[in-house]
Amino acid sequence: ITPDSHVPRDPRLIRLTGVHPFNVEPPLTALYDEGFLTSPELFYVRNHGPVPQVFDEDIPNWEISIEGLVEKPLVLNFKEILQKYDQITAPITLVCAGNRRKEQNTVRKSKGFSWGPAGLSTALFTGPMMADILRSAKPLRRAKYLCMEGADKLVRGTKDKRRDKDMTDISQPNGFYGTSVKLNWAMDPHRGIMLAHKMNGEDLRPDHGRPLRAVVPGQIGGRSVKWLKKLILTDEPSDNWYHINDNRVLPTMVTPEMSAQDRKWWTDERYAIYELNVNSAVAHPQHEEVLDLTTAGSSYTVKGYAYAGGGRRITKVEISLDRGKSWRLSDIEYAEDKYRDFEGDLFGGKVDMWWRESCFCWSFWSLDIPVPDLEASDAILVRAVDDALSAQPRDMYWSVLGMMNNPWFRVTITKEG
Ligand code: MTE
Repeated sequence: ITPDSHVPRDPRLIRLTGVHPFNVEPPLTALYDEGFLTSPELFYVRNHGPVPQVFDEDIPNWEISIEGLVEKPLVLNFKEILQKYDQITAPITLVCAGNRRKEQNTVRKSKGFSWGPAGLSTALFTGPMMADILRSAKPLRRAKYLCMEGADKLVRGTKDKRRDKDMTDISQPNGFYGTSVKLNWAMDPHRGIMLAHKMNGEDLRPDHGRPLRAVVPGQIGGRSVKWLKKLILTDEPSDNWYHINDNRVLPTMVTPEMSAQDRKWWTDERYAIYELNVNSAVAHPQHEEVLDLTTAGSSYTVKGYAYAGGGRRITKVEISLDRGKSWRLSDIEYAEDKYRDFEGDLFGGKVDMWWRESCFCWSFWSLDIPVPDLEASDAILVRAVDDALSAQPRDMYWSVLGMMNNPWFRVTITKEG
């Protein structure tokens, strides 16, 4: 029996680690084929500890505290959060900073486990804006950071039981999962930071933070704290074990050994990652898929996803069939265009994206390629560019945690028969 035996899970999800904690990605094509919104069953899961068991009857009394550098510390319960604050519903893509890490691990083992390119999912999230909640507690001018803490007790190293006595040992996780973001981001409605209690019109599922989580659009998934219990305003970034020891891109020359020996790599806030970098992947064809091009007609449609961070919009997705010598421009469909002015009911709610100019969802790109061009090629390469002209690089930037991997995506073509 695992600590999560109360949590229902879909057998299609691909397990990336052992039985516990639970970390899974959906098959990429199944995820892509669902369209812009991901069903809760297929939504990727990244847990660092056991899923808190929350009974239906306890949800109305689930409390969060707002404390630290505030004039009026507050405790709000779930009922108040629903009743006293405006609720918005908006489509947002969450992406794990480890998305595509497998490619880094193939080149050189990093400290993280091997995510394929499906460490991301999209849902219509419903709840109040974080800024409205924080404003009720009257933040002091000195407050610079919003620290968030969840209810999941972290898994501690079980090999060395002696460490359990010393909760101040920062080389091992302790306490609850937590992290921080800048307070001015949380107060800016155009950055879209919200609390969510629904995904696609349904109450959050246990793996995704039931009953309440933070959703930090355009930033790595690690900032979107699940099973949210505490909001603490501070003048320093979070000192939570996971804020310090995770979600960083250290300089590429830092080896696992160097990073274990010297704490300076972990305490330098410059290496912490927040906004997602521009990225893309091919969903059709899949790696290892056998295509019968004799029945494909005169062209085959290559397609996949692209996303950018910080609300930036993907402006170009380009495909090369000649190892990057020349590029073809693909078509792009934006989730925002579909949902921005959506009339009527979607999962029982009204979509309300009042950060109108920002893009917090993945986009889908596609390009018809004449069959002879595919037959003459040895690889499909894809790269995306965003509206700050950030482009996916040709080369990988390996780092010790293997995060934010975003070089040109490649599907190799081999010919049979
Ligand atoms: N929040 C808590 N309390 N505990 C966690 O383990 N994992 C984080 C984030 N929030 C985590 C958490 C990470 S690293 C990611 S990528 C996202 O949750 C994953 O959200 P999901 O499991 O709903 O897809």
